[in-house]
Amino acid sequence: MGLKHKDLLSIHDLSVGEVATILDVAKKLKKMQKHGVPHEYCKGKTLAMLFSKASTRTRVSFETGFHQLGGHAIYLNDKDSQIGRGEPIRDTARVLSRMVDGIMIRTFSHDSVIELAKYASIPVINGLTDLLHPCQALTDLLTIEEHQKVLKGRKMVYVGDGNNMAHSLMFACAKVGMSMVCASPKGYQPDPVVVKQAQEDAALTGCTITVEEDIFKAVKGADVLYTDVWTSMGQEAEREIRLQALHDYQINSKLLKAARDGAIVMHCLPAHRGEEITEEVLEGPQSVVWDEAENRLHTQKAIMALLMSDADL
Ligand code: CP
Ligand code: NVA
Repeated sequence: MGLKHKDLLSIHDLSVGEVATILDVAKKLKKMQKHGVPHEYCKGKTLAMLFSKASTRTRVSFETGFHQLGGHAIYLNDKDSQIGRGEPIRDTARVLSRMVDGIMIRTFSHDSVIELAKYASIPVINGLTDLLHPCQALTDLLTIEEHQKVLKGRKMVYVGDGNNMAHSLMFACAKVGMSMVCASPKGYQPDPVVVKQAQEDAALTGCTITVEEDIFKAVKGADVLYTDVWTSMGQEAEREIRLQALHDYQINSKLLKAARDGAIVMHCLPAHRGEEITEEVLEGPQSVVWDEAENRLHTQKAIMALLMSDADL
């Protein structure tokens, strides 16, 4: 499939076939890694990783994953690079394009990532912006498939803040024919532009993407319950207001009981126990959060290999 040399900025930009290819290659690479089969599809390549926000999973999974693919990853943050001192993103894009083979970026503004990709002549991968978190949502599809066998026809209910994670999950579900309900209170619902685009994608795969205020109504028949923090990176000043506004939008055992028997619970992590999810549910038998975290490694290896390898995967 044609992902070579492309960017991965939003799942909305991917075709249904490209999403399927990423998942197929992720499964293949996961198996190879588990069986100790060499898979150095990016041997001799270099990835620059630009971080303007904190990270544990994204940094470690990209860096380890690229190493396992035979490549070398360079970590750059605002503090220690010229980005933090105001060098324009379009200049950084052109300089890095002369030196490395791909760029992964985690930053605030989604427009900065679009600008980076516009000026870079190498693949750019979105490692989270205020608007989207595509690598996490693609990973989540792999985890759901592993636990629920099929994606098409399943129902995800996202509970809480209609944030970057909710947006990318809407796009991800829409591409694979999984219905999704975003259960959020007024004022914290997802961006209507994203909802509309996801609904257009969903119409092509025969599923629905909706927004609902009533969490118990939303959760009926859910195969997957998903949540994320109430206060995302960069929103720390709003924390107290958000705690109050989102108070009732928690995944707890009462809500879980209202979902389908055998429903799984997901969280991109880091989790705030006692806020968006209870300790009991996060650590309970229906939680798949550790598989979900591990799959970041395999899915992002697939993304990097598909975009950056000279080989056909
Ligand atoms: N889920 C996720 O992206 O985690 P990090 O912020 O630790 O990278
Ligand atoms: N919504 C969270 C996701 C962290 C992985 C944030 O942006 O902080």
